[in-house]
Amino acid sequence: MPRALITGGSAGLGRALAAGLVARDWDVILTGRDEHRLAAVARELGRRVTPLAGDVTDAGHRSAIAASITDGLDLLVNNASTLGLSPLRPVLELDDQVLRDVWETNVVAPAALIRTLRPYLEPGAAVINLTSDAAVDHYETWGAYAASKVALEHLTLTLAAEEPGLRWWVVDPGDMRTQMHQDAFPGQDISDRPLPESVVPGFLALLDDRPPSGRYRAAELVPANAGA
Ligand SMILES: NC(=O)c1ccc[n+]([C@@H]2O[C@H](COP(=O)([O-])OP(=O)(O)OC[C@H]3O[C@@H](n4cnc5c(N)ncnc54)[C@H](OP(=O)(O)O)[C@@H]3O)[C@@H](O)[C@H]2O)c1
Repeated sequence: MPRALITGGSAGLGRALAAGLVARDWDVILTGRDEHRLAAVARELGRRVTPLAGDVTDAGHRSAIAASITDGLDLLVNNASTLGLSPLRPVLELDDQVLRDVWETNVVAPAALIRTLRPYLEPGAAVINLTSDAAVDHYETWGAYAASKVALEHLTLTLAAEEPGLRWWVVDPGDMRTQMHQDAFPGQDISDRPLPESVVPGFLALLDDRPPSGRYRAAELVPANAGA
């Protein structure tokens, strides 16, 4: 059976994607900081899921992930991410620590996890790094998060040039009704945003079709007959 690791798998998109992979008989390692929430999701999704609690910014946690892998990985999804603060603030009002925290979680940790897990990635394995439309457009108050996603995109596509034996995809999932999105719009009604489950078919199509390494929007990947 194919094997995946998803960081930040206890909620939102990571949890939805894990459910989608398990339904296709993948074995999935899920990470997240809140051990109890992660264990509850693992119980819900069944025996194919292995929870591994920890913070992606912690090198010890990343080593523990590597130590837990016995048979190699076919897919690594760097999904865990942070906005830095809520409500979001203009660039000139961001202190150094917020900038460092965002960089550490959204850029340094995925790059370090890829480096740590490179020996475990099977030939032809895929790496999916989550990005955002904020990496393309320039929205007021989104500067720190957006800049970190730009950096993650650039690292990913550089890796595509350096390691052509693997697939390297950056994927913008689009707006989703999750805690991160609510944190970006505190106090606002976000019930019109689609649930993360709605974009999972796009990720599954990516795995089926294996297009070249590059940047993709989940909405464009969904097969025309998805959900029919
Ligand atoms: N939601 C949107 O509208 C949207 C739009 C564009 C892109 N994205 C991207 O999509 C991805 C998923 O976002 P989401 O909205 O699904 O987020 P979410 O609902 O807030 O879930 C985040 C998940 O990551 C975990 N996590 C957060 N920080 C972590 C850390 N340092 N170490 C390990 N786990 C961590 C959380 O669990 P713990 O808190 O327990 O650690 C949780 O399981 C992110 O990369 C985000 O940038 C989201």
